[in-house]
Amino acid sequence: MTVKKTYPRDLETPCLVLDLDILERNLAKMQAAARDAGKDLRPHVKTHKCSALARLQIDAGAIGVCVAKVSEAEALVGAGFDDILITGPVATTAKVERLVDLVAAAPSTMVVIDHPGNIALLDAGLGARRLSMDVLLDVDVGLHRTGARPSDALALAGQIVACPRLRLRGIQAYAGQVQHIRRYEERKHASRRCLQDAVHIFRELQASLPDCAIFSASGTGTFDIDLAVPETTELQVGSYVCMDTEYLEIESAGNGSLPAPFDPALRLLTTVVSANHDHFVTVDAGLKSLYRDGGTPQVIAPADGAWTYDWFGDEYGRITRSDDSALPRLGDVLELVTSHCDPTVNLFDHYYLTRGDRVTGRWPIDLRGCSQ
Ligand SMILES: Cc1ncc(COP(=O)(O)O)c(C=O)c1O
Repeated sequence: MTVKKTYPRDLETPCLVLDLDILERNLAKMQAAARDAGKDLRPHVKTHKCSALARLQIDAGAIGVCVAKVSEAEALVGAGFDDILITGPVATTAKVERLVDLVAAAPSTMVVIDHPGNIALLDAGLGARRLSMDVLLDVDVGLHRTGARPSDALALAGQIVACPRLRLRGIQAYAGQVQHIRRYEERKHASRRCLQDAVHIFRELQASLPDCAIFSASGTGTFDIDLAVPETTELQVGSYVCMDTEYLEIESAGNGSLPAPFDPALRLLTTVVSANHDHFVTVDAGLKSLYRDGGTPQVIAPADGAWTYDWFGDEYGRITRSDDSALPRLGDVLELVTSHCDPTVNLFDHYYLTRGDRVTGRWPIDLRGCSQ
């Protein structure tokens, strides 16, 4: 992992920092990987929740973006975006009404469907406004969170096609359960195995429905593996842009012999606020600013690997030594890679932007809290 060994000193902590040089490299690498494989990129903005960053992804060549929730799509349409895929199904009349408003404002908005109930709700909501929309069939490829069972998928596709308000444009097959398998070969086999059903379903649909042309899949852990599957047409990767220790801990291709493809652009800065003990000091980032999930936060600056972070309540963290080096002193600012980027980002209002040691600006995390 390439990390920056310095950090900006003029920021109030705890705060999130995006290293623009690393961020731009991550964007360019993923875009090039998709382009070289002849596929599209529709990155998931649930990771960074920031329309300014989504704009960079579009400018870099993405064909659109994915969101998890209708309220995220509303914020993006308000900011002038279109070509948005909502990757979770909608299941209530109230949510469908909001979705139909979105379709009226941005007709290219797509949503996934995984149940006949979704079809009935969408048919009623769209019919009331004389609108129609593009949809993807969500196929459960083993995560069992959303998605139709593979054995039910073709019948559900038939029901979608029979609804004149809905245009079936393809399938979504997100294998979240394999993304963090540590061993690369194991991850590769698991991803291949679980996409098999989706590949068969997609082929069947394509044989009779020429407009059914989208196979949207993948995450940061399997992006290169899924690009090599001939049927996939687009990646809905999210974390690659920011990265976190959960992803840095998995092996890359060549059984880990190749460098990790993406570096951590997202950092959390935290200050030592109490230093009265021989074996630890206390910093100002706890559960309310560093989400406890996934990997272990990693202190990378001013020293990389010398100290270990652990949560110390809502507002505080505890820093201990990993080796013989001295502990940081009162007032020192430490730079951490977060354990799980998505929920950590959702705790902050802004990213500070840096190039080297310079703070160059600030982006609002404007989709923060859009969880409806
Ligand atoms: C449906 C869906 N697609 C894509 C992604 C992106 O995955 P990653 O952040 O691992 O790249 C996620 C993340 O949770 C997701 O829920």
